[in-house]
Amino acid sequence: MNNTQTGKKRVFSGIQPSGNLHIGNYLGAIKNWVAEQHKYHNVFCIVDLHALTVPQDPAELYQKTREVALLYLACGIDLEHCAIFAQSHISAHSELTWLLNCVTPLGWLERMTQYKDKAAKQESVGVGLLDYPVLMAADIILYDSHYVPVGEDQKQHVELTRDIAIRFNNLYGETFVVPDVLIPKAGARVKGLDDPTAKMSKSSVTQGHALRLLDPPDVLRKSIMRATTDSLNRIAFDPENQPGVYNLLNIYQAITNKSQAEILAEFEGKGYGNLKKQVAEAVIAALEPMQTRYYEMAQDPAYIEQILKEGADRVRPIAEHRLRVAQERLGLRK
Ligand code: TYM
Repeated sequence: MNNTQTGKKRVFSGIQPSGNLHIGNYLGAIKNWVAEQHKYHNVFCIVDLHALTVPQDPAELYQKTREVALLYLACGIDLEHCAIFAQSHISAHSELTWLLNCVTPLGWLERMTQYKDKAAKQESVGVGLLDYPVLMAADIILYDSHYVPVGEDQKQHVELTRDIAIRFNNLYGETFVVPDVLIPKAGARVKGLDDPTAKMSKSSVTQGHALRLLDPPDVLRKSIMRATTDSLNRIAFDPENQPGVYNLLNIYQAITNKSQAEILAEFEGKGYGNLKKQVAEAVIAALEPMQTRYYEMAQDPAYIEQILKEGADRVRPIAEHRLRVAQERLGLRK
């Protein structure tokens, strides 16, 4: 996993085990990790410490962490190119967060749109929610990561990571690689099927909102057939005037890797019923084999424990080295 030995650059990304993974997580993140994994050394984390920024049931958090790890594998993450591990298993994440906290201006965190949105919905806001992007910066720069493949909603956090790394480097000397964000062309911002103006979200419990990666085919089909569209009866990539139709086309484009022109030609003269049917079949065809692999692997709970342990053992030295360098720069050790 050492960049200097092979000349390959390093990729880091992660997902919170805070709900049920959905097609937005797949198209915005995992699908692209899998497609590009052979080009890089990859570190894919299950960010359980981030999940704690909102209240979690402990038993469920534990179980969801394993579920997300299994989903990574079921979606095609190859351990020859990638390490997967749980964030809390490598204490350097928490330690570097503290060091970065001490160089990060409060105003930078108060400006984060995700913090503002989440804080507005809560009566009392925990410090962790505000500090969340600093932990995310620590995740990324601990591994000398060059690239961070994420959905559109995480772009601002990766930009903040760059600002924090640059600030630290300016204050204490070159210490961290400044990472670049990678956002997919299609599927970077999947919307809720019930409300195509809102982001598809893991935490929503509304039926028909999300297409969950472990939903059975009939549930997926039903949710898509019921998706909100409009009365224009026109199939076009027009997010402003046709957000529902755009969302379905966007999902279809990201899954099939077809161009917009090819898709428009395919649906020329056809109605919304036909569009929905095609999208449903494409989604089911993409998810069904993954679900089969998931349930096979889930039979043996010891398997994923072993994978998480080996993943953490494999990348811990990288994180500990970078933490040590930061500690030296700050005068904490020689
Ligand atoms: P999280 O867990 O909310 O989402 C995981 C990944 O899925 C993407 N995503 C979406 N993409 C398209 N459409 C959607 N509706 C959608 N919803 C989510 C996210 O952009 C993300 O790529 N803070 C991060 C987790 C994290 C992280 C990191 C990511 C912690 N440390 C370091 C990268 C690097 C988060 O909450 O993602």
